[in-house]
Amino acid sequence: MSERVLTTTLHDAEEELERSLRPQSLTDFVGQERVKEQLAIALDAAKARGEALDHVLLAGPPGLGKTSLAQIVRRELGVGIRQVAGPALERKGDMAAILTALEPHDVLFVDEIHRLNRAIEEILYPALEDFRLDIVVGQGAAARTLTLDLPPFTLIGATTRTGLLTTPLRDRFGLTFRLDLYNAEELGAIVRRSARILGVEVEGDAADEIARRARGTPRIANRILRRVRDVAEVRHAGVITTDVADEALELLEVDEAGLERFDRELLLAIVERFGGGPVGLSNLAVALGEEAETIEDVYEPYLLQLGFLQRTPRGRIVTELGRAHVGALRENSALF
Ligand SMILES: Nc1ncnc2c1ncn2[C@@H]1O[C@H](COP(=O)(O)OP(=O)(O)OP(=O)(O)O)[C@@H](O)[C@H]1O
Ligand SMILES: [Mg+2]
Repeated sequence: MSERVLTTTLHDAEEELERSLRPQSLTDFVGQERVKEQLAIALDAAKARGEALDHVLLAGPPGLGKTSLAQIVRRELGVGIRQVAGPALERKGDMAAILTALEPHDVLFVDEIHRLNRAIEEILYPALEDFRLDIVVGQGAAARTLTLDLPPFTLIGATTRTGLLTTPLRDRFGLTFRLDLYNAEELGAIVRRSARILGVEVEGDAADEIARRARGTPRIANRILRRVRDVAEVRHAGVITTDVADEALELLEVDEAGLERFDRELLLAIVERFGGGPVGLSNLAVALGEEAETIEDVYEPYLLQLGFLQRTPRGRIVTELGRAHVGALRENSALF
């Protein structure tokens, strides 16, 4: 299989680059206007009252800026941040150790919060509500609950899907934001900003072309930009023109609609193996050799936005538009 522009795990070097491109303030953060507006008000209010910011839940597909926003919040508040991945916490003690080490008003950022285990989630409830930690010591008849006071802190939870959060946890967030896929104009602004940081010249039309084919996702726009820069430097004079962008996108097997090989395989599998659908997610996952969760969180949002795919109670369906796209690709390109 060809290299995917969109992978779920990042290499170290890429992580480093991603950090350098990360927006540093709300003004730096492109798009998501309503989220920024509400967050700015909440931040100002918390600062004016000298309180910790309410707990924040950030939901949305990968690469839309959840981690960036958590970092921005912490910077705006001028506090520390502790960052953990939900699945990495195994025992209650892990969470207790983190909570008791927080300084007043610190941010605790829990990525993939929908994957916290139940016991850990339960010790979070009183911590979030009353800044209190209940610890059971001893066993059987001698068991007692010790209560520790915690400093007021802000939990920022990130999840690719709110639907997977339990209701008691979801209800404890005072601020819940859903990040949407970005439009081409916003992505264009992100590409130009990143190009400036990377010190590469990109012509206006070329930036728009990259933006149009980045699946509504800033992380992908930035990745494409870096690959395009490679092509510009190795094969051309270094400037990113539309021709250079097209050449690089072709090398990356990103088609006109911004679909990558796996997206096309997904559409094609439904059309050719399941008669266009409806097909259940788990059957589709088996047919493609990919995890159902990844298909749902990573690949489907953009196909849904394009109107190529539909989710129905009986399963996934490829729409007329989707069929037309697959058909057109089959006829005039070597992308299959
Ligand atoms: N609104 C934005 N403006 C500018 N750049 C952005 C924006 N959102 C994201 N980015 C860029 O995209 C990259 C990925 O964003 P980030 O890591 O915050 O996404 P994420 O939602 O946390 O992804 P994941 O779900 O995979 O953890 C960042 O390095 C940043 O450069
Ligand atoms: Mg993240």
